[in-house]
Amino acid sequence: MTVTGQADHSGAESDFNPMVNPHQEDPHPFYRRARTRSVMFSPSVDAYLVCRYTDVHAVLDDPETFSARLAFPFIYDNPPEVVAELRAGGVPEQRRLVDEDSPRHRQIRALIDVGFSAQRIRSLMPVVWRRAEELVDRFTGGTADLVAEYAGPYVQGIINAVIGFPVEAAERVETSTLDSFTLSNPAAPVEAKIDAARRLGEFTRYLQALVDARRAAPRDDLISVLVHGADGIPGLAQDGAVHGIIRGTRIAGFPTTRDAITATTLLALQNPAVHEGILREPTQTIIKATEEALRRNPPNRGVFRVTTREVELGGTRLPQGARVLVLFDSANRDDTVFPDADAVVLGRPNVHDHVSFGRGLHACPGAPVARAEIQVALRTLFGRLPGLRLADGFEPTYRAIHLVRGLESLRVQW
Ligand code: HEM
Repeated sequence: MTVTGQADHSGAESDFNPMVNPHQEDPHPFYRRARTRSVMFSPSVDAYLVCRYTDVHAVLDDPETFSARLAFPFIYDNPPEVVAELRAGGVPEQRRLVDEDSPRHRQIRALIDVGFSAQRIRSLMPVVWRRAEELVDRFTGGTADLVAEYAGPYVQGIINAVIGFPVEAAERVETSTLDSFTLSNPAAPVEAKIDAARRLGEFTRYLQALVDARRAAPRDDLISVLVHGADGIPGLAQDGAVHGIIRGTRIAGFPTTRDAITATTLLALQNPAVHEGILREPTQTIIKATEEALRRNPPNRGVFRVTTREVELGGTRLPQGARVLVLFDSANRDDTVFPDADAVVLGRPNVHDHVSFGRGLHACPGAPVARAEIQVALRTLFGRLPGLRLADGFEPTYRAIHLVRGLESLRVQW
């Protein structure tokens, strides 16, 4: 392709901040304009925005040029007083899997893939069904907030079971996830980061005790797979490697799946044809609604990469060391790939071409688990509550934790 010029730096027109409106509530008018232009630089995220479907593929298909390793703030990239607290607590200096490049990424990923094999997912399914039923059993009074009372606790319970956290550790585990977010958020106050670092030290000691227990007596969980698998891989044998991967998997698997469940439920409740289809033919309709909701509202809106050399992208030359932000929620609405992209169309022939689970080297290993969780959640909900509808006066609003976007609440009645 011919290199046509430098990136567009035209100020406010190209600036994008996923945490601020209109880009939080409805980024699509901005994306539509952005897709008519080449890659643009956005000062708010300090990155070039990659909005067109073909450009998103080009980045994700070339991990040597577009590296994940330096793309996301690392918890040790913090002010000295925060780093001192992390060191004092013995928090391992291990990045998450998603921040690694090959060959190290390939070694760890092979272990993770064992942890998410089809056989392990099958053995998990009774836990998933039971968890959904228990939560519906607890509803009282003909009304509920499906974020706080259903999707949240449901996904938390499942991901903790997959990883191997005991039920009674749920609160401690959730706090450690929030602390990791705080430590990776460049905008969080230093005092909050110091507190988070201290608590992460306590959590590290707790996790190490679990690692030791699984080393002595393996169970059917991800901690056991990692502890025993890592022992066979040079450079990964230290327990610190396992800590980073476990923390990263918990972060990757929780808010995303919760938000996908509520997005799919909202899509069904706002579209009578979908709702009626679910009541008539739940299995097939829910599978289709899940993919269409993932395409239209990806819970993980995008990912950062950093260029390892000068490169041309979509007709624009980017220097070495440039940050790019790949926007899945824009690519999934690209009309050149998905005709009438804003519309809800059940059974689009190419719906699986959406990029909501990423693509290539880092493509989400949790996608089969996530799809199973979403589908069981909806099967249970609509099966048990056939009169389900949005609560009177409910208006959807979105919460954004950086690039993870989902419904703040989903109030329903029946
Ligand atoms: C609807 C739910 C989910 C969505 C939308 C989602 C999305 C993604 C995306 C876009 C990536 C690629 C990131 C990149 O390229 O930098 C990814 C990676 C990852 N996801 Fe998910 N995810 C979901 C659920 C899960 C679940 C349930 C788990 C685990 C139980 C999980 C674990 C991971 C891990 C470990 C990675 C890193 C993979 C690697 O770097 O090789 N995800 N996810």
